[in-house]
Amino acid sequence: MKSPDPLKGGVATDRQTRDYYRLKAAELARRYDGARGGIADCFDGAFPRGGRVLDVGAGSGRDLHRLLLGGWDGWGVEPCRALIDEAERLYPAVRGRIRQSALPALEGIGDGRFDGVVASAVLMHLAERQLKASLRSLRRVLKGRGRLLVSLPVDEGGKARRGRDEEGRFFNGFSPERLETLLAELGFACMAREQKADGLGRKDRNWAVQLFKL
Ligand SMILES: C[S@@+](CC[C@H](N)C(=O)[O-])C[C@H]1O[C@@H](n2cnc3c(N)ncnc32)[C@H](O)[C@@H]1O
Repeated sequence: MKSPDPLKGGVATDRQTRDYYRLKAAELARRYDGARGGIADCFDGAFPRGGRVLDVGAGSGRDLHRLLLGGWDGWGVEPCRALIDEAERLYPAVRGRIRQSALPALEGIGDGRFDGVVASAVLMHLAERQLKASLRSLRRVLKGRGRLLVSLPVDEGGKARRGRDEEGRFFNGFSPERLETLLAELGFACMAREQKADGLGRKDRNWAVQLFKL
């Protein structure tokens, strides 16, 4: 691939990637619902119990549902209407809690409203030139001492995934190290980092999970 950034204009996620989630929404919702472990295992250590937490790129609602079950005041943001519909069908408790909105702007989400933000398997789809603005938005919606929990796809050696996958989705090669550097510029400190196996059982995929605090 010539350029890792195939986007034009102000759109953060390219058409092929958006089409993938729109057209496969029902199938993905079933698959994601069956995932084991994953980022939800980190919620207890990451967020104050009962706090207000925003799941950015909430997909089919699995983690938002787990937040609600765990006693957090969970909310979500998701650009793909078809995935929001699947989330509301699968998990009635999330109804009315997912706003159709997207990075980089997180339009409609107020400043300083959340104790925690989750961005699970989302930032790797963003255009390079939208990354910094997206991180600023994640910071904008957090309260003063807020926590940010992020997962990014890496290989076994910890190297970030780059290029398009076999289904056409775009991966920007955003590494955990670079995320830490960019977030430090915004006042975040990294509290923990671990590498987790894929919750969907894909052998070639690992996830770098990082927890940051303001
Ligand atoms: C791999 S899925 C992960 C879904 C969910 N967070 C999970 O862990 O199961 C990627 C998600 O990112 C969403 N997404 C893509 N571009 C986005 C953007 N610019 N802002 C917010 N979410 C975005 C997709 O619609 C999709 O729901």
